[in-house]
Amino acid sequence: MQGLSDLRAICSAPGKVILFGEHAVVYGHPALAAATDQRTHVEVDCCGTEFTVNGFRIHDRFHSYLLTAVNQLWDRKDPIRIQTEGGVPSASGTGSSAALTVACVGALHRLLGRSELADLAQSAFRVERGTQGGGSPTDTSTATAGGGIAISRSDEPPGVGTKLWDVAWEHEGEERRSWTVERIDIPDLTVVVGNSGVKGRTDEQVAKVAHAARKNAVVRDALADIGRITRQAVPLLRAKDFVAVGALMDKAHAALHMVGVNHPAVEQLVKAARATPGTLGAKLTGAGGGGSMFALTERPQAVAAAIQAAGGTAYTVKLGGPGVQWHDTPPGATSSAASAAAAGPPATVS
Ligand code: MEV
Repeated sequence: MQGLSDLRAICSAPGKVILFGEHAVVYGHPALAAATDQRTHVEVDCCGTEFTVNGFRIHDRFHSYLLTAVNQLWDRKDPIRIQTEGGVPSASGTGSSAALTVACVGALHRLLGRSELADLAQSAFRVERGTQGGGSPTDTSTATAGGGIAISRSDEPPGVGTKLWDVAWEHEGEERRSWTVERIDIPDLTVVVGNSGVKGRTDEQVAKVAHAARKNAVVRDALADIGRITRQAVPLLRAKDFVAVGALMDKAHAALHMVGVNHPAVEQLVKAARATPGTLGAKLTGAGGGGSMFALTERPQAVAAAIQAAGGTAYTVKLGGPGVQWHDTPPGATSSAASAAAAGPPATVS
């Protein structure tokens, strides 16, 4: 008979690049995001005698997302051990906390026999928002769904793709909010992400924008502009009109600057990318206040070199990576043994 100590689940989830719509999506405007080919793996088992992460006792200062996931989903009587292997650079604007959250929630859901992706996307958002205290389900839904997604407030859904799920935020004393997530086809694209190395915290940036939007009509207008730019981008991406998409990226970057989330270190990288022949557009991506930018370019290697020369760390990432996956073996184990159960119902835990 199977005991708790036999239970183990391994799950991975991708990072993301927000193509258009960061911050504006928190206010009900649409956003477009794509999963990347960077992934974070989480393994959970019930073999320990206390709750640990990578061998250390779980602690809210170091493991805030994981601890929230455990508190929200797991019965505290049965200790679990969590091992993480992060392939998404942290606090860089490319979805590291969402990848970690989705991979951990995915592993816990498998142990609990929960198999719906919509349920996972909802749980992961509750964990992320419960930890960071604000924001939209863009990152967690992208890490769950993979590929490309459009997201907007449910009373004004994006209406540009096939509906995947609704994700809601319900909390005592707060207005109920709901977003609709749709699958969109994004072209096969390789972009260059430039990480400024300045750690931008999503919670701080979201709170800063909330404060500015309450006080300043210019900020509210800039958020609405971002929404319009995002809508314009959908048919252009579909038509693979990359010159026009690049021009919209430049406009979106200017609007994000008006919103107040650009950072001098990120601006340096955007300028370096734009100064490189072959670049079609460049913008910050994610929460800002540091973090990363990305460039759409015909010459990824030259742009990566320019970003490095300007003091950033460049990654060439492929957009449209797979969403959450379950595995039989940890990453690094012989790859032939690793079988990914891509976005399908988890098999019985063995
Ligand atoms: C962070 O990656 C994106 C933001 O729009 C916040 C959110 O949507 O949760 C800044």
